[in-house]
This record gives sequence, structure tokens and C-alpha cells, in this order.
Amino acid sequence: MQQNQLIDPFGRIVDYVRISVTDRCDFRCVYCMSEQMTFLPKKDLLTLEEIAIVCDSFIELGTKKIRLTGGEPLVRRNIMHLIKHLGTHVKKGKLEEITITTNGSQLHKFSDLLFEAGVRRINVSIDTLDPEKFERITRWGKLDVVLNGLDAAKKAGLKIKLNTVALKGINDDELSSMLNWAGEQNFDMTIIEVMPMGDIGSENRLEQYISVSEIYQKLSQQFSLIQSTHQSPGPARYFDVANTGNRLGLITPLTHNFCESCNRVRMTCTGKLYLCLGQDDNTNLAVALRSGGKDRLKSAILEAIGRKPLGHDFMIERGLSNKAVSRHMSVTGG
Ligand code: 5AD
Ligand code: SF4
Repeated sequence: MQQNQLIDPFGRIVDYVRISVTDRCDFRCVYCMSEQMTFLPKKDLLTLEEIAIVCDSFIELGTKKIRLTGGEPLVRRNIMHLIKHLGTHVKKGKLEEITITTNGSQLHKFSDLLFEAGVRRINVSIDTLDPEKFERITRWGKLDVVLNGLDAAKKAGLKIKLNTVALKGINDDELSSMLNWAGEQNFDMTIIEVMPMGDIGSENRLEQYISVSEIYQKLSQQFSLIQSTHQSPGPARYFDVANTGNRLGLITPLTHNFCESCNRVRMTCTGKLYLCLGQDDNTNLAVALRSGGKDRLKSAILEAIGRKPLGHDFMIERGLSNKAVSRHMSVTGG
């Protein structure tokens, strides 16, 4: 019988795949990477053609939504080939949605192309609206380039959600003005807690960490936050911001357990399929594909989903506060 749905041992339907297309990035955010980040040799990456075969296989197995992440997905050479390919599945109705998570640095060049290819929504990571702070956080980024990119994306017709990592003493005082600004721009906004993923050199995540419940307390004094009817199987809780008309998501992976409704898996740019963002268990889809073609690949996917774990064990307070999971977010994608 042809299986057309991926269902894990806990009965969760897995219909969402996030794919990191590169671990490289043109920024060096302080909570994400060390400044001297060593990237994988290019030969270790799946080719774009191989990634397309993996995506096709997932779609044949019932995947409805694919998100491309990184690193910065738009710095991978010829990435539009893959996005256009996935767009054809969307146009034929085989895939509901193709989205990307980007740092915005290339959006001034790519927005129209993305829309033409069939992308309708993007997530843009931005942690501050202050140009100096922006350079302090991203080390290599320029705020005006990202703001131009956001403008281009809006003009192209892309629906935008901002992803903002809450950083104690750095942007926590700015989150309410950012939420206001997001409302004016008609962007939704999600605030994320720092997660202990990957070595970040001399920076200390415990110092960066501020709980999103603390932020919620502050924001709820200034905004009328109404628990949204919008449901998502992901880790975010959503609120409608009555004052601005946009939506606020709060991601609290460390303080809340959201795993019961998890519908997603993630593939790294080297073809490893991780079943949970906070666990190291994975299956090497590159080996499966290269040794046994698409059939072997599909069996490997089915076998992996058959052992998707119930949940994660992030714990920032514990001894290993800097990296509970050794791989960087830029390897698996957020
Ligand atoms: N903790 C929390 N968020 C992170 N991101 C990258 N690394 C971390 C981390 N260690 C964020 C990026 C982006 C999203 C994909 O993940 O800022 O918004
Ligand atoms: Fe790049 Fe995103 Fe990591 Fe910043 S958080 S260095 S933009 S991958």
C-alpha cells in the first residue's frame, strides 16, 4: 500500500519539514555563532538536486509544508532553482506552502523572485531597530540593508513575520517599540528565547537569557494581548495584539513543553534528518539516497519517523548551559 501520511509512534502526523540548505551565513549573531565560525566543507553539503529529491520524497509521503532555513538560505548559490522547483509543487496543489526563514540581507534582490516562484510568507530574523545594536548583535550585518529588504518583500506581496530573539540587557527594553513598529508595518512578530544550541565562543548564553514569560508580563501591561484562536502545532503561543491588529507569538522552548503537538522534522544541509530540535538522534538521508536511490531514501524517512521521540530535554540552568545540543541552529535550521 502506498503510504501517504507520516505518522509517528505517538500518533502525531508529521507533515512539515524544515530544511537547512546551508550552514553558511553572512551574519555572525552573538547567540548563534562565534565570530570565527568554521563552516562545513562545501563537498559535505547535499547538492540542490539532492535536496529536491528529498523534498519530492517527503511530498510523496504526505508533507504539506516545507520551510527552507540555514544559515542564510539566500546565500546558497542557485537557491532559486530549488525554490522554483518547490513552487511548481505548490502551483499544482501537491504542496500547501513553501516558506523561508531569512536574515533579510538578500531580500532587496530576491523578494520579487520569491513571490513569482510561489512563496507567499517569509520569516525574517531581526532583533533590534537600532543600527548600532544591530551591528553589535549580528557582528557583520547592516540594519538599513535589512530594512530595505523588508520593504522590497512587502512591495512584492510577501506576508512577513519577524523573528526576534530576546536578549537580556540588549533588546529587552526595545521589544514593545518593535511590536508597535511591526503593527504599523503589518508584520506579525514572534519573540524567541535563547536556546542552548552550538558553541558560541566567548559569549555566554546564561547572560543573554531572559525568559519570555518575563517579557510577556511587561508587554501585557502595555498592549492588550488576547490569546489567539490561531492554532499552530509549533512551539509558539499566539496573541492578537488589539492595539495594533497584528499577531504576537511567544516561543518558550525552555520553560514550556510544546512537544505533544509537534508536527515537524528537520534536515540539515548535509542530509541528516533530526527528529527533534532538542535531541541528537538522526538518520543520514544522504547515505540512503546515494546508496539506494529514492526508494531507499523513502524507506529511511519512514523508518526515522517511526522513532520520533516524544520531546526535548533543553535545560539552560544545568551545567552545560552554553550548549545542550552540540550542533548550531544554523546547521539544523530554526
Ligand atoms: N537560540 C534562539 N534562537 C536562535 N536563532 C539562532 N540561534 C538561536 C539560539 N541559539 C534564531 C535566529 C532565527 C531563528 C531561525 O533562530 O535568530 O530567528
Ligand atoms: Fe545567521 Fe541567523 Fe545565525 Fe544570525 S542567527 S548568524 S542570521 S543563521
